[in-house]
Amino acid sequence: MKRSREELWKIHYQSSENMSAIESDAAQLAIASPPFTNQLDGKTLDKQDYLRFIDRVFRELLRVLKPGAVLVTVNTDLRDHARYNRGDKRFDGLLWQKHSDLRAVAEDLGFLCVDSKIWVKSLNRNLYRYTFAYIQIFRKQRSNGIPLWRQGILREFGPDVWLLERGTTRRDQQQVLFRDAIHPEIARRCIDQFTSAGDIVVSPFAGSGTVLAVATMLRRRSIGYETNKKLKYLINQSIDTPEKFVAYASLPNRDTSRNHKAHTNSAIHVSGVRLGTK
Ligand SMILES: C[S@@+](CC[C@H](N)C(=O)[O-])C[C@H]1O[C@@H](n2cnc3c(N)ncnc32)[C@H](O)[C@@H]1O
Repeated sequence: MKRSREELWKIHYQSSENMSAIESDAAQLAIASPPFTNQLDGKTLDKQDYLRFIDRVFRELLRVLKPGAVLVTVNTDLRDHARYNRGDKRFDGLLWQKHSDLRAVAEDLGFLCVDSKIWVKSLNRNLYRYTFAYIQIFRKQRSNGIPLWRQGILREFGPDVWLLERGTTRRDQQQVLFRDAIHPEIARRCIDQFTSAGDIVVSPFAGSGTVLAVATMLRRRSIGYETNKKLKYLINQSIDTPEKFVAYASLPNRDTSRNHKAHTNSAIHVSGVRLGTK
């Protein structure tokens, strides 16, 4: 069954701590780039509270992913960060290797960590933010008797360091600047590697809509969650006209409304969720 672009994706403007709109064991891939903080002021950080928040979201991802399906996390460790020093809950000035704690949360829930890549965002140095991020790849365990050590093995998945510059900012036509996007090429590589046409991709922290936009280009179904309703315009624009953003220019498999013939012949199977409304 051929679906229109609009039928391929859906977004819920609510917290991904509860993804009850998605059935259990429905999705083939989730790509999560968590926010820097879960505090309402967006400025302060309480690590333990943050990790409990991540636990709630990852728990939901474990539920909605199929056995053997993949969770990719993309996150940047934190140096002492001016942004957090303005608040009451002061960041303590030490390096927080956040990727390590995220891995522990995922493994405690039962995910298997099977690979990791480094995304180099820029070769410049930034005093406040690291210019590289960790891409960590987890699998939901299968319960079909396959030995644990064999469940995680990945096919060849490119080099270990991905230099993808000019990928983090998006400015929409209303001049809203979003700084924390992932490079679309990360979404493309992961979607190509871990899914087939018609599979469901989940984006629990939709942000500017990168994962939804790339999934739609590649004719995958996608479901996003985002708490910031002000991003709605940017998300729609990313999905409808990704070519307007420089970060998408390098994507070889661009599948805009004017050029998506190569993918539209793929069979799209219905399972798990209802899509169709935005
Ligand atoms: C690092 S950004 C994600 C960037 C996104 N991958 C992209 O490429 O644009 C994190 C996003 O998570 C959103 N967010 C924060 N708390 C959330 C929650 N509980 N549920 C869903 N989204 C949340 C933030 O508003 C922010 O847009």
